[in-house]
Amino acid sequence: MNGNIIVGQSGGPTAAINSSLAGVYRTAKDRGARKVFGMLHGIQGLLQERYIDLSDYIKNDLDTELLKRTPAAFLGSCRFKLPEIHEDREVYEKIFGILDKLDIEAFIYIGGNDSMDTIKKLSDYAIVTGHPTRFIGCPKTIDNDLALTDHTPGYGSAAKYIGTSIKEIIRDSFCLEYEKGVVTIVEIMGRNAGWLTGSASLSRGEDCCGPDLIYLPELPFDLKKFGEKVKNLLSSKSSVVIAVSEGLRLSDGRYVCELGQSLDFVDAFGHKQLSGTANYLASYVAGEIGCKTRSIELSTLQRSGSHLASRVDILEAYQVGGAAVKAADEGDSGKMVVLNRISDDPYQCGTKVKDVHKIANDEKLVPRKWMNEEGDYVAEEFINYVRPLIQGDVSPIMVDGIPRHLFRPV
Ligand code: F6P
Repeated sequence: MNGNIIVGQSGGPTAAINSSLAGVYRTAKDRGARKVFGMLHGIQGLLQERYIDLSDYIKNDLDTELLKRTPAAFLGSCRFKLPEIHEDREVYEKIFGILDKLDIEAFIYIGGNDSMDTIKKLSDYAIVTGHPTRFIGCPKTIDNDLALTDHTPGYGSAAKYIGTSIKEIIRDSFCLEYEKGVVTIVEIMGRNAGWLTGSASLSRGEDCCGPDLIYLPELPFDLKKFGEKVKNLLSSKSSVVIAVSEGLRLSDGRYVCELGQSLDFVDAFGHKQLSGTANYLASYVAGEIGCKTRSIELSTLQRSGSHLASRVDILEAYQVGGAAVKAADEGDSGKMVVLNRISDDPYQCGTKVKDVHKIANDEKLVPRKWMNEEGDYVAEEFINYVRPLIQGDVSPIMVDGIPRHLFRPV
């Protein structure tokens, strides 16, 4: 490698995305890259020529370690959809002009399915125009919904945070006794895929009963049946805890969170901003049963909880960053690095690269057979799949009693 590299972060942040950035930076430097540029706010920022030289921020090994432990996107992120090449060539000419100016040999984009659409289009444009820059995708998303990879970096840490938080919520919910009982509903991210919501089951063990019900967005949600189940559970226990996906929909396609409000904000990919499912269901239960209810939205806490990060996840995130640079250096383009699970016990996982055209814009959902028959819990196969991904800890570097992060003034 003798040119420069540019790396960007895109889509929803995670606790592990900066570990991938650290992996890209270190590997690029080790393989001889002269400069490693970071796009500020992904492709959207690059179009405005906003970028930094990462060596101004990562000066030593301690900075690398801090970056690996820093949640959210160090470079800033974006949700930006590139037009089709035939729709607007000017955008592509502008991007490639900037890449030429910076002498970019490889372009690495760390993101989810929408972000892989960017890698797909840019690598296609490079082929059409005979441009030498290589484009490689580096997987990332707490949603774990990317095709062709066993799992995605960011998922393991979010799952660990969710499993732990649900356990703590259950512990708390049994303290106070109310006449008609208490129902706690916890809303978890993942608009169409229930990988994150299913990880609530990780709280179950010898010292915890786990949530009573888990509803994934893959199956249509039946409000009336739900109410009856809750009533039934309250006849035998004083506290009921339920994990629900933010993306629960009724059989007519309406989001449950839409029942209580109108969802006005829509992003560049046409996704409605989902929020309020737990709140709506808690009011519904209170209205039907008259018991105490509480709704908890884990919201951004579940994707930025780096103090509870999974060691497996942070190391794999670093590894995929390095593998992306290696792939570009070896001449690959239009590919994404995937995680390839070799065995569960002992857990072993390696990396490969796969064609990004088969990954972009696709969504991997939880298989029906990984849920129970009633559709209100996950099956053992699901738990066996996720358990290895949450193993081990990464101790935060504590300063004045609070985790220290690598800081970039914005
Ligand atoms: O990209 C993953 C994700 O965390 C989804 O689970 C969630 O629906 C979405 O991002 C929320 O994104 P935003 O922060 O843009 O509202």
